[in-house]
Amino acid sequence: MNHLVSPSLLAADILNLGKEVTMVNQSLADWIHLDIMDGVFVPNISFGLPVVEQVSKIAEKPLDVHLMIVDPDRYISRFHDAGAGILTVQYEACTHLQRTVTGIRDLGMKAGVALNPHTPVSLLVNTLPFVDMVLIMTVNPGFGGQSFISDSYHKIRELRRIIDDNGYAVLIEVDGGIDNENAARLIETGVNVLVAGNAIFSSPDPKETIRKLKELD
Ligand code: DX5
Ligand code: ZN
Repeated sequence: MNHLVSPSLLAADILNLGKEVTMVNQSLADWIHLDIMDGVFVPNISFGLPVVEQVSKIAEKPLDVHLMIVDPDRYISRFHDAGAGILTVQYEACTHLQRTVTGIRDLGMKAGVALNPHTPVSLLVNTLPFVDMVLIMTVNPGFGGQSFISDSYHKIRELRRIIDDNGYAVLIEVDGGIDNENAARLIETGVNVLVAGNAIFSSPDPKETIRKLKELD
């Protein structure tokens, strides 16, 4: 299966966000990743609904919105209205996860669930029938530019086996420290969607970096 690339705007030049989104529009990227941080679930604050709304006005690719916030149920319909196409919540932030992901789907968005590095994939066996994507965090969430946790390969392999054994149509996305060095092995291990921030936006030619990430298989 051909993998997808989702550049993370957290690493973009925020003062030139319009130009950055236009660059992604013109690139081979499939989605646009937006990291929403509340300063509570993670020790950082990023951007919120008004930014998603503005990006959505010029984006020509689906918005892949990653909520690193507590009690995400309060904001699901507002992110839908702001233009999210894929909405991912953190497993650790949801008390009634099945209700949350069903609520996301009911609004017509794809539902994703993200696992922190310490959260085992086995905890998702009862949730996989209700989601479109699992996001394996390959760093502890909160900041861009961190080093990839190499133990993630085991988690991806295990999740790939569970998905395939049960015939689920669930994508595996990875996020954190993804670059041209580890991307090929990740795809080989069973990843469908690569999120990359610094590897793309801090490179001399972001469009070319996206092309390289896209043309790995
Ligand atoms: C981290 C965010 C990531 C971040 C990835 O908490 O969820 O999406 O932007 O950045 P890089 O690719 O620079 O590690
Ligand atoms: Zn993210």
